[in-house]
Order: sequence, then structure tokens, then C-alpha cells
Amino acid sequence: MTALELSSAVAVVGTGTMGQGIAQVALMAGHPVRLYDAAPGRAKAAADAIGARLDRLVEKGRLTPDDRTAAAARLAPAESLAELAGCGLVIEAVLEQLDVKQSLFQELEDIVGGDCLLATNTSSLSVTAIAGALSNPGRFVGLHFFNPAPLLPLVEVVSGSATDEMAATRAYETAEAWGKTPVRCADTPGFIVNRVARPFYAEALRLHEERVADPATIDAVLRECGGFKMGPFELTDLIGQDVNEAVTRSVWESFFQDPKFTPSLAQRRLVESRRLGRKSGQGWYAYGDDAPRPEPHTAGPETAPETVTLHGELFAADALIGLMRDAGIRVEQGTDVPSYPGSLELPGGARLELADGMSPDAAAEPTIHFDLALDYRTATRIALAPSSRVGEQALKEAIGLFQALGKKVSVIGPAPGMIVARTVWMLVDFALDAVGREAADAEDIDTAMRLGVNYPLGPIEWGRRLTTYRVVEALDLLNGEYPTGRYAPSQALRRQAVREEYS
Ligand SMILES: NC(=O)c1ccc[n+]([C@@H]2O[C@H](COP(=O)([O-])OP(=O)(O)OC[C@H]3O[C@@H](n4cnc5c(N)ncnc54)[C@H](O)[C@@H]3O)[C@@H](O)[C@H]2O)c1
Repeated sequence: MTALELSSAVAVVGTGTMGQGIAQVALMAGHPVRLYDAAPGRAKAAADAIGARLDRLVEKGRLTPDDRTAAAARLAPAESLAELAGCGLVIEAVLEQLDVKQSLFQELEDIVGGDCLLATNTSSLSVTAIAGALSNPGRFVGLHFFNPAPLLPLVEVVSGSATDEMAATRAYETAEAWGKTPVRCADTPGFIVNRVARPFYAEALRLHEERVADPATIDAVLRECGGFKMGPFELTDLIGQDVNEAVTRSVWESFFQDPKFTPSLAQRRLVESRRLGRKSGQGWYAYGDDAPRPEPHTAGPETAPETVTLHGELFAADALIGLMRDAGIRVEQGTDVPSYPGSLELPGGARLELADGMSPDAAAEPTIHFDLALDYRTATRIALAPSSRVGEQALKEAIGLFQALGKKVSVIGPAPGMIVARTVWMLVDFALDAVGREAADAEDIDTAMRLGVNYPLGPIEWGRRLTTYRVVEALDLLNGEYPTGRYAPSQALRRQAVREEYS
């Protein structure tokens, strides 16, 4: 066990939002905590704010008054960096600026003892670059907490190029001892969460920019069909459009403008017009007591067909067969040569197919794509993308079919990969690319995405469920539809697909 001993003091430098949260975590774990901030009076104000939060925990019965008194006695603001001399760990949460962080740690290196662990909470700077100014960069790690730090369990433990394994292990075990769920990662742009999550925002923005669907519909489909807690538009309104866009731009620039990470013009315009989300009262949505809340597109009631004909297999959408039978719809076995994906033929002759990487317009027959669901049994909404060849009656049959299964139906434009499917394929690709480049291991990536951004399933597990080679096929098609390189499957994704096929 190499976790920091509880008797060792933890210093938190920079006592804004993150510093206060991290200090509270270390304090509640039982350490003495020292707070330092460059702005006069701010460390003292932070100590008072933490004290007030502990009072609320006492009121809610989550902390005993005795424990609160003991915690308060362990917490002290410092007037100068020199007062941090005896600390066993310093966590920095100051301004996100490389030169500021570098000079702070240079100063600290001469103050603290040789065995003091040094950590940065940076979200977007290189841990290696911050440590570059140190004479002993081996003891320097990234300890990336998520906001609000006392509540969110995930901590990314980032090893820079010069970080000693012992230091990273000590940081990991300390975070674990504090009741957090740490994951290990290398010092690559965005670490795990801020890198792998990019397509969740980017695909939604692209679909909206192409006028495939409006934000309310895209949000609703990702929530009610994809199983995500929040849609990307409402989530970025909560995070702040400026904050979310800054992360996207920083990761894109750090990867030398790789098209996989290209930011969105629509989001740029939102930021330029200061429509930043909840904090400014307007983002993708309007906020305030009487602000109108746009409704997702939801089709009116239609009659379900009595019979459909199944050609081939529905693979990831196989559960639909049982649901249709339960709803009293007869499913007859068709005679077409099975192909991927299989299809459901409606009485009027149109075909329903699970979204692949091509537009439904590419099919010679009238084709309606339906979106991927996390679980077709529990999904409450489904999106349909009819090709231009689909007549009104055929679309009504498809709508009625899904309504008979208890789903609301959103009709969207004929986009390749629709909404959930293309978002998930891209998350799988980004996650496996990160594994392939040894940014982190697969298990840690899935843990980080479930705990850091609340995904219903880790992307790598999701890829396995869909079978990775189907994801490769879909992205190859999508790459053909949008030949910018953004959708080109990564080498790691292709390798994983081959491994799965032969295992
Ligand atoms: N806010 C988030 O959601 C979030 C999440 C994870 C990581 N981070 C990272 O945490 C760090 C802090 O972010 P924040 O949102 O808490 O910022 P913040 O603006 O709330 O607080 C920063 C504090 O640092 C102080 N400060 C600035 N320069 C200093 C210096 N040289 N020495 C001592 N104190 C100094 C400021 O006075 C301020 O109190 C950044 O690196 C940020 O990228 C932020």
C-alpha cells in the first residue's frame, strides 16, 4: 500500500471551483489540508465555503457534528507557498495556463520535501509540459478530478513522459483511499474522457448542421433510444458552450488539427453570440420561468400493419421480433437471400432496415432506416429515416409498427448512420484508437466513460455487443459518404475486429 498516510498534509493550490472540491475530498478522507491561492483572502474564503458545505452535510445527517469539528480543525488557509513546506502531496488547481503552472511548480519544488508528490488537476494541458520545468519531474503526475469533485467518483491519474511508476501508483492508491475510482492514463490530449467523448457532441452538431433533425429531437433520441442520461445539446448548455467548445478546440489543436476532432461552426457561432447555455439564459435552448421548451419531433398515431416479412436477421435489433410478436403483429419468414443488415418488409412493399453507414437513399427499393437502440425492449422512442423513395403510406405503416411496440416515433432526414448508431460507432472507434495508442487500457476507458460522463455502457463493451467488425463495416460506408477522413476506422478498431473474428 503506497497511498499517502493520513497524517500527511495535503496542500491545494488554487482554491476556485475545483480546488475547493478537491480540498473537501482530502479533508473528508482524514488528511490535514492547507489551502493556498494567489488572490488575497481567497484561501480563507475557500476554507469558510468548505466549512459551510460541511455544515450542510451535518444538517443532512451525512456527517456527525464531532467529525465536522475535527475536519474543520484539520483545515487551514496558508498565507504563502512557503507554509506548504511539510506537505506530502500538493494538488494544483490554478488558472489553465502553462507558464503559470510551470512557474508555480518550479517555486514549489524548492519549498516542499524531496518525497512530496506533486500533482496537477489540468484538463487540457500536457502533464509532461508542466513538469518540463522541474528538476525532478519523476514525482509529478496529473490527478484529474471531475466537477463537482466531492460527488463525482472518477479521477484520471495521468503519467507524463517523465513520471515515475512509483509516483503514479501512489497517486492512484491515494485517490482510491479517498473513496474515488481512479483510472490510469498516459499524457495524451484530453486524457480519456475529454478525448473519447468528443463524437458525442460532434455527431449531434453535424446532424443538426446538415438539418437532419433539430436539437430537441436529437437530444430525445439519444436519451430515449440511446440510453444516454442527457442529450448533447442540453448537456453542452449545462456545461457551458464556451467551456465545451474550448475542450474540443484544445483537443483538436493538440492532435494537430486531425479531422477526427474538427470543431463545429454552429457551436462557434453560439459562443461568439454569447449564447453560452444555462449560465447566460440562452444556448441551444432558452432558460427562465416562461422560456419555451421545444418539443422533439413525434409522429401522430398510425395503424400498425398486421403482418411484416422478415428477410435475413436483424442482428443488433433482433429483440424487435419478439416485441412485434408480443404486440400481436405476425412476423413471416421471407425468402430473400439473407444479407446484412436484414430487413422487415412492410405490406406496402417498403423495407425497414437497421441504420448502416449509408443513406437510405442509396437503396434502389423504398427503404426506411431505424436507429440503433441501447435496448429495444426499454427504449421509449425510435427514430426513422425514410428514403426519398418512400411514400406517405409506407411511412405510416412503419410509424404504426413502432407505435404498436409502445415507442414514440421521430422522423428525421435520410442521414447515413442516423443519430444513435453513428454516435456509438464513433465512440467505439475513438475508444479503441485510444487503447491502440496506449493512452489507457480498455477497462479503464469503459470505467471512465461510465463514471465521468454517465454513459449507459462503456464504448468498448458497446462495440463488443455490436461486434466490432460490424462497426468497421459501418464506418467504412460512412467514410465513403463523407470522405474527409473523419469516419475512417482507426487501425486499432480494424485490428480488434480481426481479433474478434478469429477468437
Ligand atoms: N471547472 C471544471 O469543471 C474543471 C474540471 C476539471 C479540471 N479543471 C481544471 O482545474 C483547474 C482550476 O479550474 P477551476 O475551474 O477551479 O478554476 P477557478 O477559476 O474556479 O479557480 C482558479 C483559482 O486559482 C487561483 N490562481 C490563479 N493563479 C494562481 C497562482 N499562480 N497561484 C495560486 N492560485 C492561483 C485563482 O485566484 C482562482 O481562485 C484548471 O486547470 C482547470 O482546467 C477544471
